[in-house]
Amino acid sequence: MSGISRIGLLTAGGDCPGLNAVIRAVAKTAMNRYGLEVVGIEDGFLGLIQNRMHPLTNESVSNILTLGGTILGTNNRVEPRRYPVKINGTTEVRDVTDRCLEHITHNQLDAIVVIGGDGTMTGTSHFVRQGINCIGVPKTIDNDLYGTDITFGFATAVAVATEALDRVHTTAASHHRVMVLEVMGRNAGWIALHSGIASGTDVILIPEIPYDLGKVCEFVVARSRRGKRFSIICVSEGARPRDGDQVVKFIDPTSPDPIRLGGIGQKIAFDIEAATAIETRTVSLGHVQRGGSPVATDRVLATEFGDAAVELLMAGQRGRLVVMKDGAVTHIPLEDAAGKQRLIPLDLPLLRAARNVGTCFSD
Ligand code: F6P
Repeated sequence: MSGISRIGLLTAGGDCPGLNAVIRAVAKTAMNRYGLEVVGIEDGFLGLIQNRMHPLTNESVSNILTLGGTILGTNNRVEPRRYPVKINGTTEVRDVTDRCLEHITHNQLDAIVVIGGDGTMTGTSHFVRQGINCIGVPKTIDNDLYGTDITFGFATAVAVATEALDRVHTTAASHHRVMVLEVMGRNAGWIALHSGIASGTDVILIPEIPYDLGKVCEFVVARSRRGKRFSIICVSEGARPRDGDQVVKFIDPTSPDPIRLGGIGQKIAFDIEAATAIETRTVSLGHVQRGGSPVATDRVLATEFGDAAVELLMAGQRGRLVVMKDGAVTHIPLEDAAGKQRLIPLDLPLLRAARNVGTCFSD
């Protein structure tokens, strides 16, 4: 006996395509296979803190498989141990864990399914230590969650970035320009690597391999001399020069992960044009990568993950993270993923394949 009859469900951190597909799979498996009640917690941990939740029904989770975003809302700025509270006009950071625990008890939640990335799993493992049964489902377009080979949302982000690279390709070729496309990914270069390979991009710059601008310029000029009078560069927002730092767009002190990266594409474009005199333009893809309908593989993965989360709960598991390992859905202790990042290993066969087909990483 699992002792579970009512579960909570929340989406936290940055949104990504496939969240609604997981919500649907969790709710339908829980309600229709096991007769559980499912409560949607609104806006991530914020809903837990403010006691904003509502029951989910078959109707409310119907027709959402293909929908981008999350019907529950999300938040990537709130962590219950660091919740900003206004007192006499000044903002103080408070630990509101007890308030969350009261709301969990008050709403008779026997367990919570938490859909999120590494920051969310850090917050969730805190609740697991407080005795709350939580099951994590890994999401992020960045694909950087420790313990899983893949997160849902990544394939859609790669598809969007690939299409953008294909599109800048034709305009770069027509104008004989260098085009730099900046993609998201935080400190991991997965989106840049996969979309760069999928589009045959000439130069891929990722955080895991600090770049040498001189080598990028040599590569672009050599292509031009060979008659290839344009080049496409895909740069991850977390990339940095060998002798420099990442470009920080802004710092959000209220966020558990305060650094927002962005702007490296602009810098590289400026530096290349200055060094080579080849006209260079830049595009920053930004949140376009996170919005819209998930691609088919993300819908499938999200459905598998959501179903697996409920099956784990009903099998009596506690504090586990659903993961994909070597092609199979399995699970690991949730706290194993907390606060860690899965970066691109430098011996990844995919890096070798990219190099063998002529991609420049500037190393
Ligand atoms: O983690 C997902 C992500 O989109 C990162 O790739 C990006 O650095 C960050 O979130 C942007 O955060 P925000 O939506 O707060 O601007």
